[in-house]
Amino acid sequence: MSDLIILGTDTDVGKTTFALLWMSAFADRYEYWKPVETGPSDSEQVRQLVPKAIVHPPCERFEAAVAPPLAAQMEGKRCRGMFGVIRAKPAPTALDRRLLVESFGSPFSPLDERCLQHMLLRALGSCRVLISSSRLGAVGRTVQCLAALRGQGLQTRAVVLLGPADEYAAQEIQRHSETQVFSLRAPESYDAEAIRQCATAQRQDLVALELHLGFALASEDHTPLADPIAKDQLARDASVIWHPYTPLAGADRPLVCSAARDEFLSLADGRHVIDAISSWWTILHGHCHPPLMNALASNAEYIDHVHFAGVTHYWPIRLAEWLLRAFPWKGGRVFYSDNGSTAVEVALKMAYQFWCHQGEPQRTRFVGFDHGYHGDTFGAMAVSRDPLFFGRFEPLLLQADILPIDPDRLDDHLSKYRDQVAGIIIEPLVQGAGGMRMHTPQTLRAIAEVTQRHDVLFIADEVMTGSGRTGTLWAHQAAGIMPDLVCAAKTLAGGVLPLAATLVSPRVVKAFETADRSKTFFHGHSFTAHPLACAVACANAELLDRPETLAKPQAMATFWTETVEPLRFQARVKDVRIRGSIAAVELDVEGGYLADVGRTIRLKALEMGVLLRPLGSVLYAMPPYCTSSESLQKIADAMHAAVKTATL
Ligand SMILES: Cc1ncc(COP(=O)(O)O)c(C=O)c1O
Repeated sequence: MSDLIILGTDTDVGKTTFALLWMSAFADRYEYWKPVETGPSDSEQVRQLVPKAIVHPPCERFEAAVAPPLAAQMEGKRCRGMFGVIRAKPAPTALDRRLLVESFGSPFSPLDERCLQHMLLRALGSCRVLISSSRLGAVGRTVQCLAALRGQGLQTRAVVLLGPADEYAAQEIQRHSETQVFSLRAPESYDAEAIRQCATAQRQDLVALELHLGFALASEDHTPLADPIAKDQLARDASVIWHPYTPLAGADRPLVCSAARDEFLSLADGRHVIDAISSWWTILHGHCHPPLMNALASNAEYIDHVHFAGVTHYWPIRLAEWLLRAFPWKGGRVFYSDNGSTAVEVALKMAYQFWCHQGEPQRTRFVGFDHGYHGDTFGAMAVSRDPLFFGRFEPLLLQADILPIDPDRLDDHLSKYRDQVAGIIIEPLVQGAGGMRMHTPQTLRAIAEVTQRHDVLFIADEVMTGSGRTGTLWAHQAAGIMPDLVCAAKTLAGGVLPLAATLVSPRVVKAFETADRSKTFFHGHSFTAHPLACAVACANAELLDRPETLAKPQAMATFWTETVEPLRFQARVKDVRIRGSIAAVELDVEGGYLADVGRTIRLKALEMGVLLRPLGSVLYAMPPYCTSSESLQKIADAMHAAVKTATL
């Protein structure tokens, strides 16, 4: 059930007075919660003056009567922020009761160091009442606040003018803001009896207000169209946007996301859902992770983008040093680009040019593997060769042979074509987009040995598996192998900004170390080595250097084993695969990537507050490292429910 959220045009306009009257009239149906309190306790006042009210304790309480972040700072603490408050939201004691949630100050008061309270108010619910004092200036104050709220996409269902009745103000506010206005008078004094009498005397007005709110309060309609702002954005989106991997006709409406924090996405219709796929595997520690956002904000004060040909800057150098530190190479280099496909494109071009420099330009073939995916640019498509995604472009693709992940088959192939093959490319341990298919470190090692024996370059595409996703910093490290080229992207800057890198081994670098300008690697993107992305990536690197960071995907693997692995015994479950932060369940259904079951799974999980995006019949989770144990449990529950629904 929807909660009722009390907003005020300012501090001290009568929010708590309204709460006292409301709780006195409707203590049988509402329970009071003021999540964030500073100064004298309103929760305590409600408890004392409306003894029959159920009062939930605040989740943030600071003594000084100033803005919460400042009050927290004065006590040497930090505010827990929007999602911390959301997580702490109490459940009413019975199913037929709602919370009356009182906000602090104004909706535009600071909630923590980064966000204003309105972001929290949006996430808490969509039935909002704005309290305004009827003293002089009521019209301007109220209309201004309503307009500002609307500008942030927050609708207000009603205004309550508190104080001596002012017909004129009520009329004008209603006329200029198209919001229903109710008038209530404050009690003569603040004692339990006066509150009770005041509420009883105005019961008719309070009931009228409740009836007016009734539609919103009763509404459990959380489809993306429930909120007018969401509806407006969807209509505009539908006429101008072309979304990735989405047909232009017949697709489900997108979710309208208005904010993201930790493992949560906040939707414009008031829902907040768990981003269980880390926004296409990019978000590593959680959305808006403070150390990364701080690195972005502090560096954005003095640099934006500066090109990288003939110019250098601090952060890309520092990041490259960190990236290369994980390899026992001496003389390796980092070539920056801006997404996974371009990192792969760079690796393929470099590998071919390497052989050209060795006097072997006939090495025009590459080897990829069944179910491999390396991106959507032409080179990346050629080594992925998925018939559904890329079959149409087959006549345009460079030569690549796609083999099963089998060292013997690779050995046979390279024995035959060794002198024509520039390199092999593989996603180490986990093939992501191909259905979270996994192979063992032993198999990977055997593949590397065969490649080395035939003197062919080994490209590790760690675009998805990097940054500890599989439990080690780089997935290939689990096999103790040494690739010639490594592609990184997605999580490189923690998912905050686009950034990619191709790590190049000394052997390949050496072939380019010549003053012969015709042998230059002629490749570069406008946003190569974006300074801000590199600054954020360095903050990310610092986090990855801490043992507790990599302990998180390892702990997730244990959790998945306990909670998701048992799905293996469910009817029509073909396989369960777990590695590090990744848990995948493959269903035994027809239809491959286009299987209808994907949609069923997605909708079921969403209903349970979890965002999943199955790869056809493969349902998987790969949440950010910050995901709390409660959220992990919700993801596991959603996976169970989705499998059940999909296999009925
Ligand atoms: C292993 C792998 N390589 C490359 C890519 C392409 O990355 P991007 O989407 O950033 O171009 C992906 C994307 O999913 C991937 O999983």
